[in-house]
Amino acid sequence: MASTDTAVGTEQSTLQQLAKRHLWMHFTRLSAYDQAEVPIIVRGEGCYVYDEHGNRYLDGLSALFCVNIGHGRADLVQAGANQAKELGFFTNWSYAHPPAIELAARIASLAPGDLNRVFFTSGGSEAVESALKLARQYHKLTGKPNKTKVIAREIAYHGTSLGALSATGITALREPFEPLTPGDAHVPNTNTYRLPPGVTEDQLAETIAARIEFEGPDTVAAVILEPVQNAGGCFTPPEGYFPRVREICDENDVLLISDEVICAWGRLGEWFGCQRYDYQPDLITTAKGLTSAYAPMGAVIASDRVVEPFLSGANSFTHGFTFGGHPVSSAIAMANLDAFEREGVLEHVRAHEAEFAATLNSLRDLPIVGDVRGAGYFHALELVKDKATKETFSDEESETLLRGFLSAELYRRGLICRADDRGDPVIQLSPPLIAGPEEFAEIESILRGVLTEAGEQMQVHAAGADLGRVRRAP
Ligand SMILES: Cc1ncc(COP(=O)(O)O)c(C=O)c1O
Repeated sequence: MASTDTAVGTEQSTLQQLAKRHLWMHFTRLSAYDQAEVPIIVRGEGCYVYDEHGNRYLDGLSALFCVNIGHGRADLVQAGANQAKELGFFTNWSYAHPPAIELAARIASLAPGDLNRVFFTSGGSEAVESALKLARQYHKLTGKPNKTKVIAREIAYHGTSLGALSATGITALREPFEPLTPGDAHVPNTNTYRLPPGVTEDQLAETIAARIEFEGPDTVAAVILEPVQNAGGCFTPPEGYFPRVREICDENDVLLISDEVICAWGRLGEWFGCQRYDYQPDLITTAKGLTSAYAPMGAVIASDRVVEPFLSGANSFTHGFTFGGHPVSSAIAMANLDAFEREGVLEHVRAHEAEFAATLNSLRDLPIVGDVRGAGYFHALELVKDKATKETFSDEESETLLRGFLSAELYRRGLICRADDRGDPVIQLSPPLIAGPEEFAEIESILRGVLTEAGEQMQVHAAGADLGRVRRAP
């Protein structure tokens, strides 16, 4: 057994000491906690969570874009407990059980068009990995074995397993693990605040057509896109973008994967993000809000056309995960969807999203807030050095701003949100879907105080400042 010796101070709680000695937190600089406390969250209720000292925080990120129904729901927990008593686990490898069957049928009834077949996974990366493998095998079974490549967008996050990571377009996440699965290609995202030089909004979809042409249509299996791209800060699609992408995929026999690990389950006010933007994918990948994160679960939802070659003879999708369709997760997902329907969660998001956007947009009067964008309960604020020129912060300044100040200060003042620099510096907000005007006002008030101070510290002035190099053209 590993030793539990620790060098950390004895005045710290036992949990602090054990966390620092034994817990490997994901995407975390462990050295950041040499001196600072690990934030230990012990309890949640509605839109709020509490730390080990009893301090209360507004969860402006739904934990990690996933506790959509809010914290502390006894009904979801009870559904899981009931199922565990009845059948704690059985696998979906050649067997079925009622919770997975019923959930698959329910998801099919909510998904648009002929997306009728559900392949369960344990989370989002597994869903993306499965969809990418499914796309390859689909093309092999339909006589196009060379169609293996995947086109994704710059700065998009699609997960961490090697295949999903090759679709992820964030250099800093890819570089430590190169070489990745071959055959990935990336095109501009829909950051309309900073369009690539010479590209207009209505040409963005055409960059996908051009890339397919460049790679060779006979080699491209799939295009994977989020309805609203999370990484980089909630890039919404311009008018007509997705219908044109659909056409391009059809013209080239390329599968369109809508990665809805975040954008499904009410985040954009619809069951699925593609419904909001009116396009029909061949595959949807999802996870997180499916169970409101009360249990881990993901899924790939496939169209009848994609499933068809797998329905005959000796063919099968030679792929699976032990915990795919776990009965306890499935039962919790059912209870979560029951709560969504009973409590009108989608309607609530639709009724309040304009107010959420307006509250965040009111922060535009701060010199450091360059852009506010998003949809539904999924928004980002981009922070700039100079609003007039859209000049962004250098890498070092970004580090000082986000890690040196904003993340800790927002948390200290009771707001959990995400200060992120995968792209230009942004603050991301994605509250539980039960949030309303009171929570919006609290978010605004904390952000206003902290961003005003951040602007002063970084010497951002209303008239603009000249503090260093411009990292990217506006
Ligand atoms: C769009 C998207 N795809 C895939 C993933 C990976 O999901 P997971 O962390 O559950 O593996 C995420 C995670 O945030 C995501 O946002």
